[in-house]
Amino acid sequence: MGKDTVRHRSTGQSASSGGDEKHTKNVADEPEEETGDAGWTTLIRVLAGIIVTFVFIPALALLLVSLTVPAPINPVVISVPEPPKMAGALQVNDLLTRGERLFENEIMGPESIVFHKGHMYTGTGDGNIVDIKDGKMSVLATLGKPPCGVLQVENEPNCGRPLGLRMREGSLYVLDAYLGLFKISVKTGKSQLLLSKIDGEKPTFLNNLDIDSKGIIYLTDTCAKWQRNQFFYSLFEGSGDGRLIRFDPHKNTTEVLIDGLHFANGVQLSQDEAFVLVAELAYARILRYYLKGPKQGQVDTFVENLPGLPDNIRPSSGGGYWLCDALPRGPGFSLFDFLAPRPLIRKLLTQLLSLETMLKFGAPSTVVYELNSQGEIIRSFWDVHQGRLGGCSEVNEHDGVLYTGSFHSPFIGKFDLKKMKKA
Ligand SMILES: *[C@@H]1O[C@H](CO)[C@@H](O)[C@H](O)[C@H]1NC(C)=O
Repeated sequence: MGKDTVRHRSTGQSASSGGDEKHTKNVADEPEEETGDAGWTTLIRVLAGIIVTFVFIPALALLLVSLTVPAPINPVVISVPEPPKMAGALQVNDLLTRGERLFENEIMGPESIVFHKGHMYTGTGDGNIVDIKDGKMSVLATLGKPPCGVLQVENEPNCGRPLGLRMREGSLYVLDAYLGLFKISVKTGKSQLLLSKIDGEKPTFLNNLDIDSKGIIYLTDTCAKWQRNQFFYSLFEGSGDGRLIRFDPHKNTTEVLIDGLHFANGVQLSQDEAFVLVAELAYARILRYYLKGPKQGQVDTFVENLPGLPDNIRPSSGGGYWLCDALPRGPGFSLFDFLAPRPLIRKLLTQLLSLETMLKFGAPSTVVYELNSQGEIIRSFWDVHQGRLGGCSEVNEHDGVLYTGSFHSPFIGKFDLKKMKKA
């Protein structure tokens, strides 16, 4: 941007100052002239005024900001292909407007959901693990230290922010973005900290997990530099320093399986546990790490160029996977795709706007979609008017119903799959 701005600035300057000089002379020498010359003079003067007001002054102001305000991030180009055509299985529809909102304004930021014996569990923006049974909600556990506000951002590192949830053998496994991995008894609510360091260091931004049939845990550390309450900086910076980690709770050992991920997010094992999927949110794709077979230890792309930036991945009853978009890439203009190849504009935005302001950027549309076991998109449900969801994190299929979590919405979405068919 530096070079660009300088170029604009000097052209703007020479054009306008040249015009101004001519004007001044004409106006002074021949006042109230009614010839064609005066008409041109007026036109030039008006144009010069417009250029100065709308090009030169704003360019100068932006240049000043970019030179004087310290930038929190050091952004790089984010390489994503053109967004996919929203056609075929991605044809835009209004099916996602047919759902309902549970616990609206009673729950904040239920990112991940699990079901167990008639209970629904989720982690919320005020640091709690809640237990929902027969339409009633109670707090099962609190992992961090108050004060915890609703979507408080300041004290989040102490209060904690539970993100990924999984159930295994009657215990709830919760990955808190700051505090680590906990095992919680759903009977007593007693929690046990299983993991808080990786290679002797506190991870920066823990996010999601899955557990295999032997109890081995796969989890993501989204980013090495920015914590959860600064996630916008991580997205805007675009650097790849997220990790997929394997934790063996029996041996108490960790191992980094993939490093250099661009906003490492959702984790999901395949049904046969032959591979583990990891969502690379800032690259709008899902990678696959092979756990068995001839490709064991290798990584490839499971699916790329998704219609939105992917968060959590959860299994579908059809043998595939459910996804939704944390940030959409269409239909229509995609702010993310506009900014991806323009790191200097992203940098300038972080100089102009506070993190709090950036967090208020709303998502104009939401898409929930199903991948088959090969990673092909087979159906999608849309709400392009932000009516029902807005910033979706996870889709959970349970008894023919989809439940959606969102890290920043004040409700749980509920969609009966029987009603999610075109008329
Ligand atoms: C697991 O390992 C970590 C660091 O290596 C250590 O601090 C912790 O006490 C160990 N936990 C158990 C249960 O052995």
